[in-house]
Amino acid sequence: MKAYHVKSGAAGLDGLVRTERPDPLPGPREVLIRLRAASLNYRDHMIVTGHYFTPVTRDTIPLSDGAGEVVATGAQVTRFRTGDRVAGAFFQVWLDGPPSRRHPALGVPLDGTLAEYIALHEDGVVAIPSSLSFAEAATLPCAGVTAWNALMEAGRPVKPGDMVLCLGTGGVSMLALQLAKAGGATVIVTSSSDGKIERALKLGASFGINYKTHPDWEKEVARLTAGRGVDHIIEIGGAGTLDRSYQAIAFGGKVALIGFLAGMTNPNNPATLMMKGGSLQGIGVGSTAMFEAMNRAIETNRIKPPVDRVFPFEQAADAFRALESGDFVGKLVIAI
Ligand SMILES: NC(=O)c1ccc[n+]([C@@H]2O[C@H](COP(=O)([O-])OP(=O)(O)OC[C@H]3O[C@@H](n4cnc5c(N)ncnc54)[C@H](OP(=O)(O)O)[C@@H]3O)[C@@H](O)[C@H]2O)c1
Repeated sequence: MKAYHVKSGAAGLDGLVRTERPDPLPGPREVLIRLRAASLNYRDHMIVTGHYFTPVTRDTIPLSDGAGEVVATGAQVTRFRTGDRVAGAFFQVWLDGPPSRRHPALGVPLDGTLAEYIALHEDGVVAIPSSLSFAEAATLPCAGVTAWNALMEAGRPVKPGDMVLCLGTGGVSMLALQLAKAGGATVIVTSSSDGKIERALKLGASFGINYKTHPDWEKEVARLTAGRGVDHIIEIGGAGTLDRSYQAIAFGGKVALIGFLAGMTNPNNPATLMMKGGSLQGIGVGSTAMFEAMNRAIETNRIKPPVDRVFPFEQAADAFRALESGDFVGKLVIAI
């Protein structure tokens, strides 16, 4: 099969290499998926550039997120049949229940989805909504499930009438915007770009705050909420933004800690969070069961995940360059 791998020890995009691998064969409880689309997450860029903990230690097929159709099933498979439209879950296999250390992820350490085929345990596979194209469905396994877990599963779930703040206009935040809207919330987004804020408003956000022209964006949040603050924050900035998130959160609200794009080392003072009786909730993507619950919500609410661009397979490196440039809203996808 055609595939890409990230070379062992890779520290840059020149470590992303076109390759041929033998077609995988499904084991007794595995399904063989002909992948049709894969999407990029910030994590994938860190992996290719050698910044995801350590550089990869063996040639590894990158990307955790992909969708396609089942072309063969192992003898003991009961959940899927040939022809089913499916996506692989990020963790192989976190079926349900609380998180634990036992579940390896696709794209590192396991081979990922930037390939024609992948064989996965049936419990690490979900049916995709019939309303979505393969490109749209390929955006869901990491970014979508993370957003869903942060809003609907971990800690205090979103209620109709809540205010949700999404930091930035990347994949997790834009899927969170759509899911929060479907849950009856009002959404505020922050962005470095007025043009991206316009696009987020078209996706359903009610307000946008440019965090370059308003570096003290928590004050804008206070203004927009008449001093009350927001009930949920999709926190992708980490240590560099947490203090402002503690200011922006409402009494009893939840800060869902997802990423560290604004730095990992700033000292934070959680006293404000304590005084407000708020919570800080760590998020680690989510389970197969959460993925299925999210897909029901996507189908019911006719949500169309925001695909910014689809790159041909031969131009996979350009998709990584687009991610690096930050010149996108939502998700970047590679057709396979
Ligand atoms: N814990 C988990 O389970 C989990 C799952 C998925 C992702 N993550 C992490 O979450 C983060 C986002 O991932 P992603 O895939 O959604 O990234 P992405 O699609 O690459 O989006 C990144 C966006 O973040 C925004 N941003 C960057 N620095 C910012 C800052 N200082 N303040 C506010 N916004 C900022 C930018 O938005 P603008 O261009 O609009 O300014 C940028 O476009 C990453 O750190 C990723 O590793 C964690």
